[in-house]
Amino acid sequence: MNFEERKNLLAGKKQSHILDFYDQLNDEEKHILLSQIDAIDWDFQQAFQNKDHPSSDTEIEEIDALHIQQIIAQRDTFQAIGLDAIREGKLCLLLLAGGQGTRLGFDRPKGCFNIGIHKKLYIFELLIAHTLEVVHAANAWIPIYIMTSNINYKDTVNFFEAHNYFGYRAEYVHFFVQELNPATDLDGKILLKSKYELALSPNGNGGWFSSMHKAGLLDTIFESNLEWINVFSVDNVLQRIADPVFLGATIASGKMSGAKVVRKAFPEEKVGVMCKENGKPHIIEYYEMNEEMLNKRLPDGSLAYGFGAILNYLFPIHRLKETLDQAMPLHVVKKKVPHIDKNGVLIIPDEPNAYKYETLALDLIHKMDDCLIFEVDREKEFAPVKNKEGVDSVDTARVLLEKNGYTL
Ligand code: UTP
Repeated sequence: MNFEERKNLLAGKKQSHILDFYDQLNDEEKHILLSQIDAIDWDFQQAFQNKDHPSSDTEIEEIDALHIQQIIAQRDTFQAIGLDAIREGKLCLLLLAGGQGTRLGFDRPKGCFNIGIHKKLYIFELLIAHTLEVVHAANAWIPIYIMTSNINYKDTVNFFEAHNYFGYRAEYVHFFVQELNPATDLDGKILLKSKYELALSPNGNGGWFSSMHKAGLLDTIFESNLEWINVFSVDNVLQRIADPVFLGATIASGKMSGAKVVRKAFPEEKVGVMCKENGKPHIIEYYEMNEEMLNKRLPDGSLAYGFGAILNYLFPIHRLKETLDQAMPLHVVKKKVPHIDKNGVLIIPDEPNAYKYETLALDLIHKMDDCLIFEVDREKEFAPVKNKEGVDSVDTARVLLEKNGYTL
């Protein structure tokens, strides 16, 4: 595309303002801006148009879980199945570490955050320590894929190298980069970070499989023994990764996916819950539920929509392969995004001022035919580090770590 063609494209998309400062740029800056324009995935415009008209053609039903008591009763069997599968090289891990962690307000990758108090204990270090426990129990290395974004790739890789992979074998750790989407203002106009850069941010945590594909990682996976992939977030410092009991239970269930869940603490808790949508496993966000759904109870008194997803899933690789050519829906999320205004002055917003366009891992669950909902004890496996203070913060995570015997 030459400059005129790009100009026409932007005019057609009602985004001509992106070139407002073009005449002031040097050659290198022009090159950066033009290549960012070429890389724009314009699907975000459709998501912007549809954001106030969610599809109403859906039937939501409750879904039950494998309860903790049932898991305890079959624990040894599940564990043996899971450990065998790991020994046979059937499991790999996918750590979602491409987020920006804006709520935490830490200017490095979230995994580099030191959750220790009197000693250093980095989030990445904890996640690797949890994985190493399973590696030792199975006596087999488990490949770990780490998704970063272009923004935090170097910092993440350097951190692992500087810490000698926290004792993991480096040859089993693979980093890759997810794509970026432009953020827009509330009228759908792409924001500029500077006169020659778009305000880009990672495109969500749902596109990891196609990003792995683009990074050229899937061929080796398809040729290997790998059958299952355990996907998890960077910020739950108590979660069990590569959990052989979870893997064994999912394999034994014959289902197409698995999702770890915790019981909601109270009806209004801000967590997405497992349900069925048009017969398929689905996660409904708390803000999509009406009063009746939030408070509906089963005969035993428990909440009908009471199992909150904690972003720890198992997917069968052959089934994921079939989803590769299917688009993932883009969700429109209101966030604070720094940008320059039409005079080139930097604006740091205090309130959400922009939309980001993100795919979500939960939409991948929806593409699976069914799902084993696997209940875990929230006191033992759920300590998310999302916020600087208050709910799901560094402080609450520290309390839970200490309760579980960690020395901080
Ligand atoms: P969050 O939804 O908490 O987003 O991510 P975030 O970007 O980390 O944090 P905030 O909302 O800005 O405060 C849940 C998980 O998904 C990963 C995160 O790294 C985290 O493990 N994620 C999120 C990605 O890998 N890529 C993304 O584009 C977004």
